[in-house]
Amino acid sequence: MTGSITRTNRVLVIGATGKVGRHLVDELLTAGVAVRALVRNPAKAGLPEGVELVCGDLAEPDTLEPALQGVGGVFLLWPFFSATDAPRVVEAIAKHARHVVYLSSMGVRDDLSPEQNGVWGELEHMIVQSGLEWTFLRAGGFAGNALEWAAQIRGTGVVRRPYGGAVRSSIHEADIAAVAARVLTEPGHAGAKYVLTGPEQLTFADQVRIIGEAIGRPTRWEEIPAEAARQQLLAELGDPGFVDGALAYWAGLADQPEPVTHTVEQLAGRPPRTFREWAADHAETFTARPEDLDGHVMARENG
Ligand SMILES: NC(=O)c1ccc[n+]([C@@H]2O[C@H](COP(=O)([O-])OP(=O)(O)OC[C@H]3O[C@@H](n4cnc5c(N)ncnc54)[C@H](OP(=O)(O)O)[C@@H]3O)[C@@H](O)[C@H]2O)c1
Repeated sequence: MTGSITRTNRVLVIGATGKVGRHLVDELLTAGVAVRALVRNPAKAGLPEGVELVCGDLAEPDTLEPALQGVGGVFLLWPFFSATDAPRVVEAIAKHARHVVYLSSMGVRDDLSPEQNGVWGELEHMIVQSGLEWTFLRAGGFAGNALEWAAQIRGTGVVRRPYGGAVRSSIHEADIAAVAARVLTEPGHAGAKYVLTGPEQLTFADQVRIIGEAIGRPTRWEEIPAEAARQQLLAELGDPGFVDGALAYWAGLADQPEPVTHTVEQLAGRPPRTFREWAADHAETFTARPEDLDGHVMARENG
């Protein structure tokens, strides 16, 4: 860290147009915090009035300087499969800010090396080394991962994927944001690693049934071989390491369900939202014709 660090309470939200970031921006504005958003395309950001938009791109760390000038806290997510550019990004943040809240993953284990913990472990390690105050939000699977099924649900109501018996404790993105807002605006969270989950364990097949109940249409899970899904996911996501990692993880979740933690309630002061609430909040995405959805809904679905 250098002498340019400021004591301002202005918060820079990276990923402000994403599933967590939009909720976080709302939380911070409601709390009266000065919010700046890093955006790649201000015209398409669709963020509320009162947010300062500053252009920059995480893939080009030299572009981040204007967004970091005069901020105290930074909410960071890392939207890439590789950590190659991350050291320069973390260095730039450490030059200006005093506290970073990093959206990590529940999959990170303290008994493994940074590399064994994947891109999330590598980012955490860099941040610890940076001299910044840090807080890690180790989130479990987002409820929003179910948006990946939206086209199938809109089309036939049948979700064809493997591992329908995988048990997850999916978290509503608004609850991650609620915790992030608290951690960014009150003292006492430096050095904490918070594992955040939703309130209940549900199989993938349960989640599909609940979406059907929320939208008033029959929906069901249809099991397909993992290899068939692998080809579809590779076509959608591209990164073989990520796809194979996800499939292997889901395969294990029937026997080793994701745990439920109570961290959201402890930090946000309210119980975490249920998957049923998430499905009701996103019913439109599962029912509307794609051409009728606005750009932000489609961006969330593709995110
Ligand atoms: N899904 C899960 O189950 C899960 C679990 C644990 C942790 N996570 C972590 O959560 C993060 C994703 O959060 P999310 O779902 O809220 O995000 P999201 O909806 O996928 O949106 C991605 C955000 O990142 C921004 N972004 C993408 N590339 C960028 C770049 N080159 N420079 C600057 N900004 C860029 C996007 O902005 P634009 O508007 O410019 O596109 C958007 O705001 C990931 O880092 C993931 O590792 C996910």
